[in-house]
Amino acid sequence: MKAILCPKYGAPDVLEYTDIEMPTIGDDQMLIRVRAASVNPADWRPMRGEPALFVRPIMGLRKPNNPRMGIDLAGQVQAVGKNVTEFKPGDEVYGASKGAFAEYVSSYGKSLVPKPANLTFEQAAAVPVAAITALQALRDHGQLQPGQNVLINGAAGGVGTFTVQIAKAFGAHITAVCSARNIDLVRSLGADRVIDYTRENFIRRDQRYDLIVDNVGNCSLRACLRVIHPHGRFVVAGGPKGRWLAPMMPFIKVKVLSPFVSQKLIGFIATTNKPDLLFLKELIEANTLTPVVDRCYPLSQVADAIRYAETGHARGKIVITPEN
Ligand SMILES: NC(=O)c1ccc[n+]([C@@H]2O[C@H](COP(=O)([O-])OP(=O)(O)OC[C@H]3O[C@@H](n4cnc5c(N)ncnc54)[C@H](OP(=O)(O)O)[C@@H]3O)[C@@H](O)[C@H]2O)c1
Repeated sequence: MKAILCPKYGAPDVLEYTDIEMPTIGDDQMLIRVRAASVNPADWRPMRGEPALFVRPIMGLRKPNNPRMGIDLAGQVQAVGKNVTEFKPGDEVYGASKGAFAEYVSSYGKSLVPKPANLTFEQAAAVPVAAITALQALRDHGQLQPGQNVLINGAAGGVGTFTVQIAKAFGAHITAVCSARNIDLVRSLGADRVIDYTRENFIRRDQRYDLIVDNVGNCSLRACLRVIHPHGRFVVAGGPKGRWLAPMMPFIKVKVLSPFVSQKLIGFIATTNKPDLLFLKELIEANTLTPVVDRCYPLSQVADAIRYAETGHARGKIVITPEN
């Protein structure tokens, strides 16, 4: 079968579109035919082995221990091991499983659930990591309540487009930060107010927020605290690009400053899980949440898809489709 491999750390040129053995499955596993996958920073940051101090001790010091790429997928169950009772061949699923940039993956199914009935495979593959990150930022770490004021920095990307829609579903009043070309998009997703960051710095406004979700990691934390209510929250989901520590700096700063301020400061790494995927499926099937798909690339062109993702200016999600 065809798959994308990352045999060494580096720019997208290191990626190989190649033939590998079909995966075999154990008694507790399923074989999934991947109908679509999607790109996340969690694909291209480890591809580069960055941030090195965080990624390389876990994923391999000199080269990736596991060269398979891709996490988010939507597909069809092809075969199940004898202990699998939850799914049967033919079932349509979506979720997360390592190696999604391939025609098939074997999976224990710990983060796979039935696909939302009203989505195409391409749309469903756009959901898992980005929407779970948005959900956990708002609900678990932000503890967002109806009627609260939330500011979403980085509202137009993969995570941002879900953050705006989920905040709307939770009944919040939303201020979204993006560039001029995305103002109409984020407004259509539910933002009540939009700030074009190329013209205005949101921390200069008089507005105060109960919650700021930062999907970019470019804010001055001290300045942000001036626009958050004394018992409000600042949740960091994203960080800038960088080889060593730069991507981790927003997370380190909230940890260091946290004991000294009245607001709650939180940096978090999202965890994919079935209950959250099922929660998102419900929102999607109620037409409260719709993935925004920017571009689709064939599996053979994952390197180009990642080059585009690395510009940091995708509108919503980038989807990959196997050619078979
Ligand atoms: N904590 C976690 O578990 C977790 C999980 C997933 C992702 N993340 C992190 O979350 C971040 C966002 O991920 P993503 O998948 O949404 O990335 P993405 O799709 O590449 O985000 C791109 C978006 O960022 C916006 N943007 C770029 N510069 C901006 C700025 N200065 N101010 C406001 N918006 C800006 C762009 O909007 P314009 O084109 O309008 O500039 C674009 O729409 C990344 O740092 C990623 O590593 C963290």
